[in-house]
Amino acid sequence: MIQTPVIIINFKAYLESIGVSCLNIAKAAEVVYKDTGVQIVVVPPATEISRVSSSIEIPVFAQHVDPVEPGAHTGAITMEMVKEAGATGLLINHSEKRLLLADIETLINKARANNLVSVLCTNTPAVTGAGAALNPDFLAIEPPELIGTGIPVSKAKPEVVLNSVDIVMKINPAVKVICGAGITTGDDVYAALKLKTVGVLLASGVVKAKDPRKVIQEMAEACLKFQNEIRG
Ligand code: G3P
Repeated sequence: MIQTPVIIINFKAYLESIGVSCLNIAKAAEVVYKDTGVQIVVVPPATEISRVSSSIEIPVFAQHVDPVEPGAHTGAITMEMVKEAGATGLLINHSEKRLLLADIETLINKARANNLVSVLCTNTPAVTGAGAALNPDFLAIEPPELIGTGIPVSKAKPEVVLNSVDIVMKINPAVKVICGAGITTGDDVYAALKLKTVGVLLASGVVKAKDPRKVIQEMAEACLKFQNEIRG
């Protein structure tokens, strides 16, 4: 069960995302979770899932799985593999790892059957609407042109986020919407929550930061600030 607001940190394939550095970032996320109570999920490379999941208590997701069943698929990463390694959820259709629509549906259904949380990534409100119909647990709207730029979607394209949330509410309100691309500060996270999302998906702002713990802490505090405000 993933609480919201949630901060999902995708480690991608950065040099900082392997070995000791990977573990340190994951542990920093855990420290912040323990300090603030804000839900944080780490998404290390497949080769690091086992090490990370056995070292921390916060959820560990996979960045991708191949839409194949176990068998003769050399080099494939199956859902069974990441689950066995300790992943409790996965990203599906990240803009850096696009999939066919039929495969997306198969993976969402298979994740549910395996008790794994699915986070379907989409790029536009229209694709988000199509994605909502497939009933993932989370939808992450990420305009690809802002990824890795440090220009936050929550401030540069608020209309895209708002439209996406509205469309999902109409098509399948059970799906939780988060947003990502260019999110690097607590302020960016706060702006995302103001746009009626329940969290963020981000990468470089934390993974490439000089002090990842400090950035994660600032983001978690922005979540607390937002929650306090809505509680009045
Ligand atoms: O999955 C997160 C993502 O694609 C956004 O990347 O580096 O802009 O936070 P970044």
